[in-house]
Amino acid sequence: MPVIVACPTDGSPGSGLGPAPIVGRVEPILSLDLTTLHRRTSMKWRRYPEDVLPLWVAEMDTPLAPAVREELLRVVTEGDTGYPEGNAYAEAFAVFAAEEWGWTFDPARQAVLSPDVMQGIAMLLAQAVRPGERVVINSPVYAPFWAVVRNAGAELVDVPLTEEGRLDLDAHEAAYAQGVAVHLLSSPHNPTGVVHTREELTRLAELARRHDVLLLADEIHSPLVGPGERFVPLLDVPGGEHAISLVSASKAWNLAGLKGALIIAGPEQLEQLRALSYESTRGAASHVALRAHTAALTGARDWLVQLRTELQANRELLDRLLADHLPAVRHRLSRGTYLAWLDCRELGLANPARHFLDEARVALNDGAAFGPRTAGFARINLATSPAIITEAVTRMGRSVSGPR
Ligand SMILES: Cc1ncc(COP(=O)(O)O)c(C=O)c1O
Repeated sequence: MPVIVACPTDGSPGSGLGPAPIVGRVEPILSLDLTTLHRRTSMKWRRYPEDVLPLWVAEMDTPLAPAVREELLRVVTEGDTGYPEGNAYAEAFAVFAAEEWGWTFDPARQAVLSPDVMQGIAMLLAQAVRPGERVVINSPVYAPFWAVVRNAGAELVDVPLTEEGRLDLDAHEAAYAQGVAVHLLSSPHNPTGVVHTREELTRLAELARRHDVLLLADEIHSPLVGPGERFVPLLDVPGGEHAISLVSASKAWNLAGLKGALIIAGPEQLEQLRALSYESTRGAASHVALRAHTAALTGARDWLVQLRTELQANRELLDRLLADHLPAVRHRLSRGTYLAWLDCRELGLANPARHFLDEARVALNDGAAFGPRTAGFARINLATSPAIITEAVTRMGRSVSGPR
């Protein structure tokens, strides 16, 4: 539940006209200050020296949602730190998916646990791809996709997104026609934040079916989509029954330190699930993580709605700040993740992320990590306070306009 703070409407207690009327004000989620955040020891806050504002790796500067915090306190109090039992996470995700997106699946038949999303992808690739077979990805894309495909011994086929950031369906048709075993899709797309439409996913699923391509959709960011845009689960479109998706509460509730994920197979892919061994799935997910993830899905839905609203405000803030401080940098407002993809090509910098780190003390992700043609781009993480975003973009602007 959002935290409601009582406050006077006019902000001026004691105006002499009797008690000020009290209304509810919601405490922002994205409001932690630097002193508090510097106490964190996770990657985001420890990779760089303290004078650097870290707006890179996909961690959020949020406190835990109250329902998650309370569940973890119960776990600790009870000493409930053994192995997992039951299917509560999949059942909770099924309820969430039905209520959020109108998508229903059978958690008992269609879902298995995975230690995390990337390990789930690695397990599925190991099973579905023979050495030398071709796997499609779409650059610019989440850097570990490149490694996980190469580690599977597959030949990597890049079908880049269009200049507008959309899936290039004609190019997919041409690539699939050459023979492709698996297409690893990021949905919503990291780093651009683009949310694939029902039409795009339907056409993709139809092409995959025709050319016998297994579609694997990494939907880890899906609960974050909105407001104003609708996430479409791949398994919910016609042809999606032949696909497999991977989901988790980890991005939307900031639970990367409590690893857990679900592999959900379309009804025509249940054989792939059965083939995943017991040891590589059920036994490997952490019981404590599963309790936290399940509590997020069942008890922290209002928190998520509030978070999405604040993220949208941060995207709009970024747009305004760029217009004021870095007008040469282009940013397409996207609603699928808390990440934004900055086109810095007009700045003429060889490596914009390196420049902003050295000259502005702001850490972004280097665009070159996401694909071969995006060295002029950088990824920024907006899951922090408006004050930190404002300071970061102001510094970045100064670094390109001031004396070098
Ligand atoms: C698209 C995508 N997939 C997977 C991951 C990592 O997920 P996990 O920690 O569950 O492996 C991330 C993390 O940012 C991501 O953005």
